Amino acid sequence: MQFEQIVHPSPVPAATRQQALADPGFGKVFTDHMIEIDYDADKGGWFAARIGPRQPIALDPAAAVLHYAQEIFEGMKAYRHEDGSFALFRPEANARRFNDSARRMAMPELPEELFLESVRQLVLKDRDWYPSVDGGALYLRPFMFASEAFLGVRPARQYKYMAIASPVGGYFKSGAPAVKIWVSRNYVRAAPGGTGAAKTGGNYAASLVPQAEAAAQGCDQVVFLDAVEKKWIEELGGMNLFFVFADGTVVTPPLTGTILPGITRDSLIALLRDEGLIVREEAYSIDQWRIDAGSGHLLETMACGTAAVVTAVGTVAGLEGEFTIGSGGPGQMTGRIRELLVGIQRGIIADTRGWVTTL
Ligand SMILES: Cc1ncc(COP(=O)(O)O)c(C=O)c1O
Repeated sequence: MQFEQIVHPSPVPAATRQQALADPGFGKVFTDHMIEIDYDADKGGWFAARIGPRQPIALDPAAAVLHYAQEIFEGMKAYRHEDGSFALFRPEANARRFNDSARRMAMPELPEELFLESVRQLVLKDRDWYPSVDGGALYLRPFMFASEAFLGVRPARQYKYMAIASPVGGYFKSGAPAVKIWVSRNYVRAAPGGTGAAKTGGNYAASLVPQAEAAAQGCDQVVFLDAVEKKWIEELGGMNLFFVFADGTVVTPPLTGTILPGITRDSLIALLRDEGLIVREEAYSIDQWRIDAGSGHLLETMACGTAAVVTAVGTVAGLEGEFTIGSGGPGQMTGRIRELLVGIQRGIIADTRGWVTTL
């Protein structure tokens, strides 16, 4: 499918753009263009792929997404390498996960080539929006929603796929070397058989109250426990977790359908194994976490995801009080793994696995 190129009549002036790029924050600044592709089950599927000016879209007030939340999204980053080329990190994994989410939400799949071509076009079109701040990247947000106008609970027959881009700096406001997290006891994120493994807006809407509770307790993020026993550690609001032990083993919660299968998580499993560590995907309880942190058996806890890459968890707070992991700052393995991952993503360390796609 060819993408129609719609000329932007009035892109942001260079001086204004440079000003916005000096300190972009996270998800606040947007580039000039956006991608749109429409879907109609009665017209044979996907049609009218285009890239044009980023602007508000018109939606019928009865559009299904506004009532029954049929919506999915992805989050990925484009990096500018030393030679000026742009690269994506494992974009086909995002394309695959997008379709996994689509199936769970009874939405049509988007052919992977179309997903990949859309983000390629957007990055290249808005290449001047790359932020040169430390740790900066062009964050890409592909998403799809039900646009059909009807008030009935059934899968829609019309959808819109879009992608927008946002130049970003660091994720955590504090820029903290280690984050403090809050154990949610009053709320859960996902139940077995639910939508926890899909990247769908409702999961994040449901996380806002527990996240606010975490913030009110002076914490950066919330950690969710399983919905059944309220015992097993699942994930943060937007990051997966790894527990690094003194005996050279690492544990990360298994993909049982209630957590998001992070692409950073999958990459870290491989990188940690390369470092000679034994990585096990198995359940780990909140009580054991506290015991192991206290005894010194647990050396580090890492949180990982596209947005904040690899971040140390320094302190865990909850209704039962607080405990500190290691020194409370970033540990050795967290630093090492972060350096390796960032190095590969940014083209500083050789990519031996075919993880990096140059655009
Ligand atoms: C709930 C949740 N868990 C984990 C992750 C990490 O996933 P990834 O490494 O693919 O960014 C994210 C981020 O997208 C997320 O939203």
